[in-house]
Amino acid sequence: MTHLVETQALTHRYGNTIALESLDLSIPSGAVYGFIGPNGAGKTTTMRILTTLLAPSSGQAWVAGHAVTKEPRAVRRMVGFMPDFFGVYDNMRAWEYLDFFAAAYNVPANRRPTMINELLELVDLSHKRDAYVMGLSRGMKQRLSLARTMVHDPALLILDEPASGLDPRARVELRELLKELRTLNKTIMISSHILTELAEMCTHIGIIERGRLLASGDVASIMRSLQTHHVFEVHVLNDLEVAAALVRDMPGVLDVRVLPDALPPMLHIDYEGDEHSVSDLLARLVAGGAAVTHFASQVNDLEDIFLKVTDQKVLL
Ligand SMILES: Nc1ncnc2c1ncn2[C@@H]1O[C@H](COP(=O)(O)OP(=O)(O)O)[C@@H](O)[C@H]1O
Ligand SMILES: [Mg+2]
Repeated sequence: MTHLVETQALTHRYGNTIALESLDLSIPSGAVYGFIGPNGAGKTTTMRILTTLLAPSSGQAWVAGHAVTKEPRAVRRMVGFMPDFFGVYDNMRAWEYLDFFAAAYNVPANRRPTMINELLELVDLSHKRDAYVMGLSRGMKQRLSLARTMVHDPALLILDEPASGLDPRARVELRELLKELRTLNKTIMISSHILTELAEMCTHIGIIERGRLLASGDVASIMRSLQTHHVFEVHVLNDLEVAAALVRDMPGVLDVRVLPDALPPMLHIDYEGDEHSVSDLLARLVAGGAAVTHFASQVNDLEDIFLKVTDQKVLL
């Protein structure tokens, strides 16, 4: 089987609010799937359905071929879920916390001590084995929570905004940990409303907004599909406004922005067209007397892609 997660026309309503609208999602086995969208987009709702915590209003979702509404027990065996909040566990030590959840998943008592030590090692918390959970830093709690999602050795990890509220250092640690999980052949679905959090670690992305999937696929093909739209950064030694006027009315030019306060001062040209007409753009500038010292297409990164597919809407 190539897709570990599949949804078809997945729809969810809370009263009159449509949280998910006919979502068709697929996540290949072995992917790190970044599920990206602003607050209220429907990420948590999707994840709760995939983990069998919430029944969809209509449509269906499958994990490893098991329908979430028909075979919830089989689905739960496959999935480890890290919710976007961490419960309160007074007077519980790190190892006891993992022991508790392992017992809940029927891991035999004689296998638990070794497994707990291995998990603590994996998330770099061996030194906190006997520490109280409530005394751990936020980053440590997140890592412990991640260890907890793995006590039953699930194929799929669903992590709801694991990086939110972490300081930069804890984020780097989380990223390293996710890399390690990939080498353990886990498929990972990870959500965020901040794109840059996920930019470096995903193989695939899905962009969701207001309950609809706007784009989904491997990072390279999503980039390619958007590649006809370029932003050129142009440095000229003489008047920027004059240079801008030269290209503003050319076919394919969508927008020209003059940035006099940038270092160095520059133009940004939004342009839609193929390679040949790109050279026309440069030729026009030069022929018109602009002293061009730099002319380059800005590299599309995930942030650009997100802004394009969500129609320049600002992230919350
Ligand atoms: N329990 C709930 N009751 C009513 N509305 C909800 C509930 N949970 C979420 N919603 C609404 O559903 C939409 C999607 O929410 P959610 O899935 O939490 O989005 P995200 O995780 O992307 O921020 C939002 O409009 C939110 O207000
Ligand atoms: Mg959420």
